[in-house]
Amino acid sequence: CAPAATMGAVPLKWLTLLVITVQTTALVLVMRYSRANASGRPYFASTAVLLTEAAKMTAVLLTLWLENGRSVARTAALLRRDVWGQPRDTAQLAVPSFLYTIQNNLVFVALTNLDAPTFQVRETTFQVREATFQVLYQLKILVTALMSSVMLKRRVGAVQWVALLVLVVGVGLVQVDRTAAADGRHRHTNHLVGLLAVLALCMSSGYAGVFFERVLKHGAASQSLSVRNMQLCWVFLSLCPGWVSLFLSLSPGWVFLSLCPGWVSLFLSLSPGWVFLSLFSALFSVPFGAVAAALNDGAAIAEHGFFYGYTGYTWAVIALQALGGLAVSATVKYADNILKGFATSISILLSVLISWGYLGDVSLSAGFAAGALLVVGATFLYSCGRPPPRPAAAAAAAA
Ligand code: C5P
Repeated sequence: CAPAATMGAVPLKWLTLLVITVQTTALVLVMRYSRANASGRPYFASTAVLLTEAAKMTAVLLTLWLENGRSVARTAALLRRDVWGQPRDTAQLAVPSFLYTIQNNLVFVALTNLDAPTFQVRETTFQVREATFQVLYQLKILVTALMSSVMLKRRVGAVQWVALLVLVVGVGLVQVDRTAAADGRHRHTNHLVGLLAVLALCMSSGYAGVFFERVLKHGAASQSLSVRNMQLCWVFLSLCPGWVSLFLSLSPGWVFLSLCPGWVSLFLSLSPGWVFLSLFSALFSVPFGAVAAALNDGAAIAEHGFFYGYTGYTWAVIALQALGGLAVSATVKYADNILKGFATSISILLSVLISWGYLGDVSLSAGFAAGALLVVGATFLYSCGRPPPRPAAAAAAAA
């Protein structure tokens, strides 16, 4: 059994769980205040998703540069060898990359469809939608556990399943309570589209997360976490031009550009596998972008501009979300997807407590207290209810 990775004396498992808890708490808080600026103009979520990906890629490149002795030449050689030079290895990450791209945009489809937008104050409307969304989105914890046991053969004991159920109910209670606090009149107005979107999100989040975990833990051991993240970013880039074209309503120039990764690969005389993959992905990213154009903000962005409604909070959300993507990958590597679910549930609790204690814009009720108790109880129950190791693993540990 390999010794647990540490930073100083602290196991990376706990460090990454702590980082993701702090990051998610900060994100939930900042998001609430970013949604409307002083003049009440909401920013386009799709532009923020795109900038988040750009920020993440910059951060991953920077990490690789630091890891390679701050040498541009060595970093470029590594990218060439381990990212572009490994088309098969990189291509498998098209699965989570594709799902995450859809997922990060689908969040807003779910948010805008879950409740009837009949409020006069736009910000209040959004809070109610978000709370309903958050309650349903907790089902991803169960999907993740199911995927982990099927795809990774992870043993989840009966007590742990009970703990996971208690966790979902607990976080749900905390969120329902926020729904009621925001406005009691529109709690049961879910639309089918919103419901289907959030269920698709749960499936996507569970599957993509566990898929990425399987690549990290059971794929080629020689690839570092930064390389894996870079592979994910690169596949995203290959899929991305279709999304970019939506902003410009699919002008011919952008359709041409969506073939770009293929041309870049050719230009850099990279492996034929990459050229094929890039051209192939561009082929389906264009129609995909066309569908997205109908769903998303293309026309409005053309009218108002890319940065319409941006405030300091918006930039903070983008930075925190980019950091979050990297924190997710580290947590999945050093801990696992199920523990990540616990960390983010605790973050939701913390964000409500901070809102109540410091910002004074939320009141705590018996519903919140019950939900909080269930979340904390579930966390203990899950860690105590760990099933005994499989006989083979026990024998290996004893040897
Ligand atoms: O809700 P969930 O935990 O599934 O969200 C995961 C998020 O982390 C997604 O927004 C995804 O884009 C991001 N992520 C990332 N890099 C990874 C893994 C996940 O940016 N290596």
